[in-house]
Amino acid sequence: MADAVEHPNPSTAFPAGFLWGAATSAYQIEGSPLADGAGPSIWQRFCRTPGMVKDGETGDIACDHYRRYRDDVALMQRLGLQAYRFSISWSRVMPEGRGAVNAAGLGFYDRLVDELLARGIEPLVTLYHWDLPAALDDRGGWLNPDIAHWFADYADAVYRRLDGRVKKWVTLNEPWVITDGGYLHGALAPGHRNRFEAPIATHQLLRAHGAAVQAYRATGKHEIGLVVNLEPKYPATSSVADHAAVARADAYMNRQYLDPVLLGSYPAELREIFGEAWPEWPAADFELIRQKLDFIGVNYYTRSVTRADENSWPLKAAVVRQPQATYTETAWEVFPQGLTDTLRWVKDRYGNPPVYITENGAAFFDPPTVDPPTVGDPKAGELTLEDPQRVAYLRKHLAAVRSAIAQGADVRGYCVWSLFDNFEWALGYSKRFGIVHVDYATQQRTLKASAKYYAEVIASHGANVP
Ligand code: BGC
Repeated sequence: MADAVEHPNPSTAFPAGFLWGAATSAYQIEGSPLADGAGPSIWQRFCRTPGMVKDGETGDIACDHYRRYRDDVALMQRLGLQAYRFSISWSRVMPEGRGAVNAAGLGFYDRLVDELLARGIEPLVTLYHWDLPAALDDRGGWLNPDIAHWFADYADAVYRRLDGRVKKWVTLNEPWVITDGGYLHGALAPGHRNRFEAPIATHQLLRAHGAAVQAYRATGKHEIGLVVNLEPKYPATSSVADHAAVARADAYMNRQYLDPVLLGSYPAELREIFGEAWPEWPAADFELIRQKLDFIGVNYYTRSVTRADENSWPLKAAVVRQPQATYTETAWEVFPQGLTDTLRWVKDRYGNPPVYITENGAAFFDPPTVDPPTVGDPKAGELTLEDPQRVAYLRKHLAAVRSAIAQGADVRGYCVWSLFDNFEWALGYSKRFGIVHVDYATQQRTLKASAKYYAEVIASHGANVP
């Protein structure tokens, strides 16, 4: 791991070089998913499967970023963003998921990277944010062990085109969500509900991660890491049963991915959780999985207070609602202290690796804009939409990041989720996470107060964070 960055004044300042960014993902904002020779992804199919996405909504148009990326990058520059985290659609680059590269698909990302660099914004590229090529799903998707080399081949094609201009790479976004949503509970594509498949998907995701890092070391010259979503678990009572429930929930969500990647083995609790569905894997797999990483990306949204519950499948653990707490529109408790605790936990458990907060943000209802400017209006984007709850959320979570840094965590940057309101997966367009409001009828972008607040954070290097 690289040396920790210097902390000029640990209690009040963000470190010099701390990177301020915003994040999105391909399927959630791009639209035009089949343009220029792209193949369909599993989300193309999932959105067209009745009952899977709220109101049958799709990513067909989304924020139309595929066609509006130049204006969008100009908007990023106006906000002062130093970094932009986005993902690449595998099925644009390889319509069949393997084999021939679609030059036009890769060309889009090539132009996007150039546009970002021309405006002084560092690209932070995620290779996989949930949109598996449908052609690979037909071959078993994340259950097929061949996916490790399919993914590494795809990654290699992208590295060869963009490395050097892109200096920070991420293999996978949130393998836990891919497995839990896609293979265990079925709420996300490809929509399976299978206790036997989930551990297999986990393992093949991790092998694919390892293979893509290996491929990077052969050609790449910069940094590569993995993004995980971490959600600290706190016991509802001091009972032995609740503590055991916390251990299971924590192993399943937080340690299932970081332990094999950074320590070389799965947490023991997984065998208890999955029972006969938990397979044995060859030792060589863990050598592949445990590649040296340059950083860990942490996505943090909430915590859970956990109690034992025999009827809750498969964890036998349930979340206890906190009556005094504030909840976001996705019913997630606002708990900034959890971010500090999480960053300290990563530091203590895994030897203080460099960390980027790769996502943090909240869905709240935003009041509609009064008299929105029309498309093409030179004043477009200058109107402000008030979103005080999101401003408060960001303010408190940024303070929580700074507190973790003051306690020695090697945190090197922060990306707000999300730059734009966008397609929130199975929830369609019903939940808005953006600091920039998107009117889906006109594609008008309007800054929310949170965008202006965040621009001030960046301009002052966090000096305005309480
Ligand atoms: C994902 C995003 C998603 C966000 C809010 C994260 O789990 O990476 O794609 O929109 O959370 O749900």
